[in-house]
Amino acid sequence: MALDRELTDVLSESKKFYPPSAQLRKNANVPDYEKMLKQAAKNPLKFWEEAAHDLHWFKDWDKTFEDKKKPFYKWFVNGKINLAYNALDRHMGTPVEKKLAIIFEDETGVERKFTYKQLYHEVNKLVNALRGLGVRKGDRVAIYMPNIPEIAMAMLACAKIGAMHSVVYAGFSAKALADRINDAKAKVLFTADGSFRRGKVIDLKSIVDEALKETKTIKKVIVTKNNKQKIKFNKRRDVWYKDFVKGQSTEAKCAQMDAEDPAFVLYTSGTTSKPKGVIHVHGGYATGVLRTIKWVFDLKGDEVFWCTADPGWITGHSYIVYGPLLAGVTTLQYEGMPDIPKPDRIWKVVEKYKVNVLYTAPTLIRAMMKYGTAWPKKHKMPSLKILGSVGEPINPEAWKWYYTHVGKRRCPIMDTWWQTETGMNMITPLPSASLKAGSACKPFPGIIADVVDKKGKSVPVGKGGYLIIKNQWPSMIRTIYNNPKRYIKTYWSQVKGAYFAGDVAFKDKDGYFWIQGRTDDVLKVAGHRIGTAEVESSFVAHPSVVEAGVIGVPDPIKGEVIVAFIILNQRAKPSDELKQELKMQVRKGIGPLAVIKDIKFVDKLPKTRSGKIMRRVLKAKELGLPLGDTSSLV
Ligand code: WT7
Repeated sequence: MALDRELTDVLSESKKFYPPSAQLRKNANVPDYEKMLKQAAKNPLKFWEEAAHDLHWFKDWDKTFEDKKKPFYKWFVNGKINLAYNALDRHMGTPVEKKLAIIFEDETGVERKFTYKQLYHEVNKLVNALRGLGVRKGDRVAIYMPNIPEIAMAMLACAKIGAMHSVVYAGFSAKALADRINDAKAKVLFTADGSFRRGKVIDLKSIVDEALKETKTIKKVIVTKNNKQKIKFNKRRDVWYKDFVKGQSTEAKCAQMDAEDPAFVLYTSGTTSKPKGVIHVHGGYATGVLRTIKWVFDLKGDEVFWCTADPGWITGHSYIVYGPLLAGVTTLQYEGMPDIPKPDRIWKVVEKYKVNVLYTAPTLIRAMMKYGTAWPKKHKMPSLKILGSVGEPINPEAWKWYYTHVGKRRCPIMDTWWQTETGMNMITPLPSASLKAGSACKPFPGIIADVVDKKGKSVPVGKGGYLIIKNQWPSMIRTIYNNPKRYIKTYWSQVKGAYFAGDVAFKDKDGYFWIQGRTDDVLKVAGHRIGTAEVESSFVAHPSVVEAGVIGVPDPIKGEVIVAFIILNQRAKPSDELKQELKMQVRKGIGPLAVIKDIKFVDKLPKTRSGKIMRRVLKAKELGLPLGDTSSLV
């Protein structure tokens, strides 16, 4: 199996440990990593049952786990709970209510803060207003917003009502938004006038207006004023957020949900052009997210937690919005770029708000490395305790830079491997672990993972194979919205009885996991997950294109960027203008996140006998690597 990362690099790193400091071990929520792993492995169900007791349940569950209808597993059967209640209501009347729930800053320097009590009141007003519109338990609400407090409010209000939110990352195009609204048949849409990016304003509202031409289900659009720019307003359909909540009561009843009731749907890319609506539920999701955030980031309760992801991705759901609030700590939302106006904006924000945990992505670290060490050196960042990394494999070089210049060799890095589907960190160190630069270490307590071949057999130490999860866990995906068959096929049909992650990995002799990247149908561009098939179908929508094959190639900052091989129809002439037009076509189909590095016009694409494009062969040729097994090539 072809491994994308430079194995030699990684293998030499696999011998070197970075042990935790004695101080850290002494005070950590989990003082002994290896011991805890062994202890939880004895009885994972008991482990998760105990974790669930950290939450408020309206009614206790009858049974911790049920596998009667595999792979439609159930957790905390007949328990009654609400995700938003645990994030907010539960803290009322406790000292947490006076603490800051959200600190917000945007690129231009505007600052807003909300205590838990204030956030609770804001969410309640929104709950009442949404109920007034007729939003009920089980309805779907779409959210297309920047990283501002109102996105968290919208998510929490939906959860409190028991309506499912579907957050669509605000970098997606009008078409991508429309497709997701249509799949979920969302009734209401939250958006904003615009969002800040690199000193410019992205006009979100006009993207929404265009998307809504292709949808029929949205009755109301709730618009937050974020940039004060002029936008078109459809008086019958659109309402300003401020007017929407005006005069509403600051108290609202919370829906008592079944533990297995869906809390939200979040679309993610897979191997076909249609994105998958991943379903997460109230009880198990809350359990997994709370336990992981507390243990991985060693939260004691008074931290400022900054996850630099966007709420439009699962990282933002779990570790910007729900995780920090479930744990009763302060979450920081920063809307904008980390290097505006200068390359040390990110370190300045850390110092200004005394951030204790910084959870970011390798692509951002590499972008900051490019500016040199002088920028982080200017900032001591004494508040930082723990660093995190997520989204793609972190190369040892970036790991060491992050460790040395940001964490000042004082803060351990939690390299957390997980996915939209897993809901929570799955393979990760804890602060008491001995780290290795570039390894996500071992499965979280209560998780059993392995690296196997196609037949499901464990591969030897140091050999690449497929990453699987051998047991079930509370915050796992429950199904794909409107497509349970695809749920079974994608995750539970590759290796018998195990969850198939779609990643390639190997284990070293100490049992540490080294994640290598996706199997070849899903790309990771700046940590954003994009399906090759989605990009190909955008290209093919252009009248000049007959066929397209798309691959990811390594990029020093973004991790991966896209190279496309295009077959044109006979009338079309290859030209630079056409390349430009085709790039725009992908921007329209998916959004600016799908960065196309190069387009190559070709006469033929390598295919299997059954007509599937062999992207592996395209990739090997592009990178000048051995072609591997081509026996099925025609
Ligand atoms: C894919 C999931 C939930 C995380 C944010 C992205 C890759 C994620 C790591 C890591 C190596 C990683 C995997 C995974 N990935 N974290 N620490 N080391 N690879 O969620 O968009 O669902 O993507 O991201 O390839 O399958 P996602």
